[in-house]
Amino acid sequence: MPRYLDVQAPESGVRLITLQRPEALNALCTELLEQLAAELEDAERDEHTQVVVLTGSRKAFAAGADIREMAERDLVGILNDPRVAHWQRIATFAKPLIAAVNGYALGGGCELVMCSDIVIAGEDARFGQPEINLGIIPGAGGTQRLLRAVGKPLAMQMVLTGEAIGARHALQAGLVSEITQPELTVERALQVARSIAAKAPLAVRLAKEALLKAGDIDLASGLRFERHAFTLLAGTADRDEGVRAFMEKRPARFTGR
Ligand code: CAA
Repeated sequence: MPRYLDVQAPESGVRLITLQRPEALNALCTELLEQLAAELEDAERDEHTQVVVLTGSRKAFAAGADIREMAERDLVGILNDPRVAHWQRIATFAKPLIAAVNGYALGGGCELVMCSDIVIAGEDARFGQPEINLGIIPGAGGTQRLLRAVGKPLAMQMVLTGEAIGARHALQAGLVSEITQPELTVERALQVARSIAAKAPLAVRLAKEALLKAGDIDLASGLRFERHAFTLLAGTADRDEGVRAFMEKRPARFTGR
């Protein structure tokens, strides 16, 4: 099986995953999704990895599900689609995931962006859910996460027309956290990753979990979860270290305990 990912550790605590299927603009074939899900599982187990940065090429972050592969699947094949499990594993990655996006992020590519926690986009990035042009709808969270990210009118417009939006519009709409020059996208994402990797790992994980809950559950339950997580962190060595470092006017040295 070809290897569709390049994986590097450019900074302490940071894993950089680059999608590498240029012949199909990083279309997310089953093997690519399987490799990505396995890599994220490995990153989750690895105590030296605190943050993952995910990127593609200058032309395409990812141009969606592999349409050639889709053409070979009948209804039974779709019902038993192994990609559903791969998507599930990707969407539930517990550590921070930063997408560094240049070029096309379409269909499954846009859905991959929405599975990420922080999105740094090059000025030339294009985000869209063009599935309607194929007679289908987004199938990896596109209708649900897009509406939550950008609100109903724009989500409806994007999904029903299939038309993509540019990086500035995506920033304004809340799909993207920051825009950079295309050649600086990965560098900026690594800078953000470095900042997060220096924090207390348990606090980072619980902060991610608590923030994601805000989009899923009612306010009272969310506040209860936040209080429990906050209390839990009060018992960690890193909390003691963080407070002591502040008093002693020195940088904290967190250990993940
Ligand atoms: N699947 C398979 N192959 C793809 C692909 C995809 N999603 N997107 C691009 N490719 C292939 C092309 O077939 C082409 O291969 P050949 O050279 O062998 O013909 C190569 O990548 C380069 O693509 P183009 O020649 O089309 O490049 P372009 O610059 O002219 O156009 C594009 C770029 C506008 C992104 C165009 O490729 C395109 O529209 N791609 C499909 C986008 C799409 O519809 N995505 C949604 C897929 S469905 C989905 O994602 C479902 C889901 O929810 C999970």
